[in-house]
Amino acid sequence: MADDATKITLRESEIPQRWYNINPDLPAPLSPPLHPGTGKPIGPAELAPIFPMELIKQEVSMDPWVEIPDEVLRVYRLWRPSPLYRAHRLEKELGTPARIYYKNESFSPAGSHKPNTAVAQAYYNKLEGVKRIATETGAGQWGSALAFACCLFGLECTVYMVRASYEQKPYRRILMETWGAKCFPSPTDMTNAGRQIRAKFPDTPGSLGIAISEAVEDAATHDDAKYSLGSVLNHVLLHQTIVGLEAKAQFKLAGDYPDIICGCVGGGSNFAGAAFPFIKDKLSGKDITILAVEPQSCPSLTRGDFRYDFGDTAQLTPLLKMYTLGHNFVPEPIHAGGLRYHGMAPLISLLTNKGVIEPRAYHQLGTFEAAVTFARTEGSLPAPETAHAVRAGIDEALKCKDTGQEKCILIAYSGHGFFDLAAYDKYLTNQLQDHEYSREQVEAALKELPVIAEPSA
Ligand SMILES: Cc1ncc(COP(=O)(O)O)c(C=O)c1O
Repeated sequence: MADDATKITLRESEIPQRWYNINPDLPAPLSPPLHPGTGKPIGPAELAPIFPMELIKQEVSMDPWVEIPDEVLRVYRLWRPSPLYRAHRLEKELGTPARIYYKNESFSPAGSHKPNTAVAQAYYNKLEGVKRIATETGAGQWGSALAFACCLFGLECTVYMVRASYEQKPYRRILMETWGAKCFPSPTDMTNAGRQIRAKFPDTPGSLGIAISEAVEDAATHDDAKYSLGSVLNHVLLHQTIVGLEAKAQFKLAGDYPDIICGCVGGGSNFAGAAFPFIKDKLSGKDITILAVEPQSCPSLTRGDFRYDFGDTAQLTPLLKMYTLGHNFVPEPIHAGGLRYHGMAPLISLLTNKGVIEPRAYHQLGTFEAAVTFARTEGSLPAPETAHAVRAGIDEALKCKDTGQEKCILIAYSGHGFFDLAAYDKYLTNQLQDHEYSREQVEAALKELPVIAEPSA
């Protein structure tokens, strides 16, 4: 029986000491990453120029649990454990018999779930003598999380920020610079990848795929620098599982358990963090609906193909088997900048392909409408990315209103929208539009994908 607390909190001493690795529990093995040049499965040595070895080991680990280093736990304590909220006021406003909870990651110094992996990645880089980390950022949430983490561990940080977001969100850049990072609008003229794109498309708003090419090239061409990715890869999703592990302990305290979990997906990390520890139970027979929510204007899970593709535009990254819209796809500059990625984490792609996760796509106007309802009831202002999860949570609660079912819904509340007020202003003054990616555009972008045979096991 659920109690009626508003905030379900854990003590610092109850922060999980291990991350959960879903890899050994998967219903089928992951297809290996392939070398971008040879198309052959890639080994640790080939990843070593861009990632520290400990992260490479985590990327391929089949251990179900990975110890969290003490230094990482000490930094986590700045904002963890994060509270699990019961959205009493939202439930009342909707008139639903459903119980709605949200796991609130917006209290981290950078305002989202991203520091959960940024801190771990900065720590392992520092341990292996790296001096500088290069990365890309969409909305600026990841860039600011890494800037914060590098600042705490005494590392330099270079951030290639997608031009559309750089222009929409100057405050994110200022935050990164305050933590000591250097931030550039991508594509820049500092890398070959950036120069080539600028020559071809001088007015490009940029994309995560382009910014990733720039950051990878930067790391690969400088000995003392490594690259860091804020989503998609197995080790990033692994670090985020602290969110769902805490949530599980909090549900136990509350005497409840989710029937439905809703998370937004860009590359998939916050969603995986919240959902994977519960998917472990689902894979052992528990009945849970797991909804991965993406924008209609960047619908990789709902309209992409499940096949090998590059993670970036310049084809520098390994090929990953994932749902993709094609690495050349440049989505409309919607305000949920962190969801503008052509691909999806291989782990989430596989689980979607096997029917464990249900994908869903929303238009941006509907997500802002949900975000405003949330802000006017619960008080907190969701990031435009998070608003996709909120939309799904509200829709599920409204279904319960129709059917009378008293379901328990968990929303992965991945971040706050305080740096997205210009987007809210546009929504409130009717200046936002929906963008649908046409069938012809999907087919044209997919035609450019490499045709790669599945390597034999
Ligand atoms: C608040 C927030 N939520 C979600 C995302 C999407 O990323 P991911 O799918 O890796 O969680 C982002 C990305 O920048 C974000 O800033």
